[in-house]
Amino acid sequence: MDSIHIVGGKRLEGAIPISGAKNAALTLLPCALLTEDALTLGNLPRLADVDNFSHLLNGLGASTKVEGVRKGEFGRRMTLHARDIASTVAPYDMVRKMRASILVLGPMLARAGEATVSLPGGCAIGDRPIDLHLRALEAMGAEIELAAGYVKAVAPRGRLPGGDYSFPVVSVGATENALMAASLATGRTQLFNAAREPEIVDLCNLLVAMGGKVDGIGSSHLIVDGVEGLHGCDYDVMPDRIEAGSYACAAGITGGSIDLIGARPHDMLAITNALAATGLVVEFHDRGMKVTADKPLRPLSISTAPYPGFPTDMQAQFMAMLCLAQGESFLEETIFENRYMHVPELRRMGASIDVRGRSAIVHGVAGLTGAQVMATDLRASMSLVLAGLMAEGETEVLRVYHLDRGYERLEEKLSAVGATIERRSAG
Ligand code: EPZ
Repeated sequence: MDSIHIVGGKRLEGAIPISGAKNAALTLLPCALLTEDALTLGNLPRLADVDNFSHLLNGLGASTKVEGVRKGEFGRRMTLHARDIASTVAPYDMVRKMRASILVLGPMLARAGEATVSLPGGCAIGDRPIDLHLRALEAMGAEIELAAGYVKAVAPRGRLPGGDYSFPVVSVGATENALMAASLATGRTQLFNAAREPEIVDLCNLLVAMGGKVDGIGSSHLIVDGVEGLHGCDYDVMPDRIEAGSYACAAGITGGSIDLIGARPHDMLAITNALAATGLVVEFHDRGMKVTADKPLRPLSISTAPYPGFPTDMQAQFMAMLCLAQGESFLEETIFENRYMHVPELRRMGASIDVRGRSAIVHGVAGLTGAQVMATDLRASMSLVLAGLMAEGETEVLRVYHLDRGYERLEEKLSAVGATIERRSAG
């Protein structure tokens, strides 16, 4: 298992290219199942989750062809072609490795009239149920059966009629599955209290580019009129707002200045507002944004919330940065029940953090010390890397496969702005 070694204390300065968004890519990829034409996606990040998803799609009958990228460049182009659906079963060993595999449920049901997908099971940050995915599909006319750890969904007459559903809890994945299923329904689907994340907007824009009919894009009331068929197209994945926010925190925690090339400010105003509230200077420009630390960090009070609120995927990274703020910060994690696994590891580096249920109080300290720490989930592992960038001495982050799921060529990007960071393979 690889590990990441960092010698902290360097002020990071320079430009980091922002890759395509993981959480957009993982909902755009299954759209290939919605058409018998070829679908080309550009600006795809080179990530383990993207590779795993394309292998899952191969098993369902989609061919995938990747155009290489020139050395030093980012963003691959992948052409996917599901001329026929060869299988409507997403097996346990695939879904177990990557929860987002559940996002083949809606498109397979829409294209083939049936789908059998393994229940994803929980993960480190929480139980992660899929009941809202299933309720929404039932409201659109699907018949759902749970047996032996699998969900079997059937469209009784081969195609879903569509229907209305109001989400009791905002769910990104359930909104995505419902949108993809609705795109080929025979009638109209209305989704109320739908998720509004920029990744949902990216999915709606792709469905429209494929000939779909979606209204209310960007709002919590989505109206989809199903069409007879969708055609292929060539579409670029949006930039990753969470990757951009993570590297902004690297500027903050090291007292540096990083230009985030390709970041899209209007996707991430809750993040940039929080960065500015700590005293960081955030300058938007036509190629992205620059984040500069020119004074000690101020403490913050943050509650995570569905978009356009402060994203849960940025909570761990801000916590690492706020360990160095002058005073006490208060964080509340309202989305997932167990998203503080980075706390014990940060404490081992000298952080002073009290956790009570879903709330955490971060007492600012003068500095952190390097240590051997264990990554537990994707964003927790990034918070440990951030802490290592400013900690005195060496930090070794173990189980970096978590990082590889969501951060493309992290060591290369951080080295380019002055970090002493390398990946070591264990044997
Ligand atoms: C997506 O997960 C993201 N993953 C997550 O990013 C992100 O943290 C999350 O949205 C919230 O923004 C991808 O896009 C691949 P949800 P998802 O359904 O869709 C509950 C990362 O680090 N819920 O919006 O699984 C659920 O338990 C990852 O990049 C139900 O109760 O999240 C949670 O409390 C981590 N029933 C809340 O809703 C359901 O059927 C929000 O979950 C579905 C969800």
